[in-house]
Amino acid sequence: MTDLLRLTQVHRGFSLEGQRIEVLKGIDFTMKTGEMVALTGASGAGKSTLLHLMGSLDQPESGSLLFEGQELMGLSNAELAAHRNRHLGFVFQFHHLITELTAVENVALPARVAGIEPKEAIEKAESLLDWVGLGSRLRHRPSELSGGEQQRVALARGLVMEPRLLLADEPTGNLDEANAGAIHDLFAALNEAQGVGMIIATHSSSLARQMQRRVHLDGGQLAEIGAGDAPEEEVS
Ligand SMILES: Nc1ncnc2c1ncn2[C@@H]1O[C@H](COP(=O)(O)OP(=O)(O)OP(=O)(O)O)[C@@H](O)[C@H]1O
Ligand SMILES: [Mg+2]
Repeated sequence: MTDLLRLTQVHRGFSLEGQRIEVLKGIDFTMKTGEMVALTGASGAGKSTLLHLMGSLDQPESGSLLFEGQELMGLSNAELAAHRNRHLGFVFQFHHLITELTAVENVALPARVAGIEPKEAIEKAESLLDWVGLGSRLRHRPSELSGGEQQRVALARGLVMEPRLLLADEPTGNLDEANAGAIHDLFAALNEAQGVGMIIATHSSSLARQMQRRVHLDGGQLAEIGAGDAPEEEVS
């Protein structure tokens, strides 16, 4: 079976005011369809930088990035945008919901961008919001929802295009424990029911430990953490 995602010797650094910072120094990583992976690492280790590369929001300076066997390096911005819209879903810590739109309009937006008919997009958005437990909040705007509810809207939006890979950057980072647990349960249910591949960057070692596979970023390198390894300290 073709790997869902394969990174080979991926490098990314930044030059700012004459200073060069190497963030990712040769990342090798492979995941299969339906895998659920926790990405941990100290603040500044490069988790967001890596997720942006995996999500084609940014390009490596060198290396190879295959999605289902297809090389993404060298694609045009338009091709990458089409790839993101069609195959990837994103959930960020600060959900980036559009304040003027209702929950259902926010969730339907990626489908509308992809050219799906309004009626179909709205129906899909409604059923996803129902699934995340917000069936009675469809017409609420973000400011009329709690933080945990907003994050569930963001999760539903990340799923509306039925992505094969969901990338989440500290999706529970600004939530209390109960809400964080509820979001995590949704990720797990989704992974089990639909086999959506997921990479979730998290500072929470308790959430990370619940996932099948954990990788840790340190010194620009990515290492597998075995199930038997000592649990790390909570870093946030
Ligand atoms: N656009 C940029 N220009 C310059 N430096 C950057 C840029 N983006 C990230 N960096 C630097 O790269 C390093 C890694 O940042 P990144 O945001 O990937 O870390 P992180 O692991 O996600 O941290 P956190 O847990 O705090 O979110 C940081 O030192 C940061 O300053
Ligand atoms: Mg980050």
